[in-house]
Amino acid sequence: MREKILVANWKMYKTIDEGIELAECLKEKINGRPKIIICPPFTALSNINEVLSNSELELGAQNFFYEKQGAFTGEISPIMLKDAGAKYVIIGHSERRNIFGEANELINKKLISAIENEILPIFCVGEKIEDRQAGQTENVIKRQILEGLKNMSRENVEKIIIAYEPVWAIGTGLNAKPEQASEAHKFIRETLNEMYGDKLGENITILYGGSIKEDNIEDLGKMKEIDGGLVGGASLKCDSFVTIWKKLKSAKNI
Ligand code: PGA
Repeated sequence: MREKILVANWKMYKTIDEGIELAECLKEKINGRPKIIICPPFTALSNINEVLSNSELELGAQNFFYEKQGAFTGEISPIMLKDAGAKYVIIGHSERRNIFGEANELINKKLISAIENEILPIFCVGEKIEDRQAGQTENVIKRQILEGLKNMSRENVEKIIIAYEPVWAIGTGLNAKPEQASEAHKFIRETLNEMYGDKLGENITILYGGSIKEDNIEDLGKMKEIDGGLVGGASLKCDSFVTIWKKLKSAKNI
């Protein structure tokens, strides 16, 4: 189902106490749509889950390994994520792809596992600056989608949230122009329509991510192709994230 959503990706920031303080502030100031999904580090998941109980704010994780259990030192399973209260998980973030070497094949296994274990994936795709400069943006995104969603049924793909995050825009302060993001989102919808037919692409929530700030969310949010955002740096302070949420709300008239 296509929804308006704002995801807070805390990355490797916030101790448990710092996370609780931030989540309490967000809970107090945010209510209703756009929907909020907070993705703290693993160590703070259960604590933040407790803070968010009795609120509409939802909990997600930033990563996991696809097996249910086993000898996988240092990894976290989907069962463990659910146990800690996570309903969503970010999969294929460019930092996982580029720093930790995650390729489309692994990302595909994670997407399948998340769905099987009833955790909703937030599936990230996006090109590097050299891809864009070489005119390869669409080819790169198409490959990430085709290989990422390999062997997945239409019914399961319908449960996925997609985040378009151009790598050159993440953490750089240089966001994609609303038109650039909108064009990429349209291309993603067309690709899904080609793969699954019957206008599936129009029913999928597609978020933009990459240097979202208080002063650019309104213009991004006004684009009808953009259903919301995945926010990194600007999600670490209560006031700035609340302002982004309010501005997205007004841009979407909800
Ligand atoms: P940023 O991060 O908002 O700090 O650019 C976005 C992301 O990595 O999802």
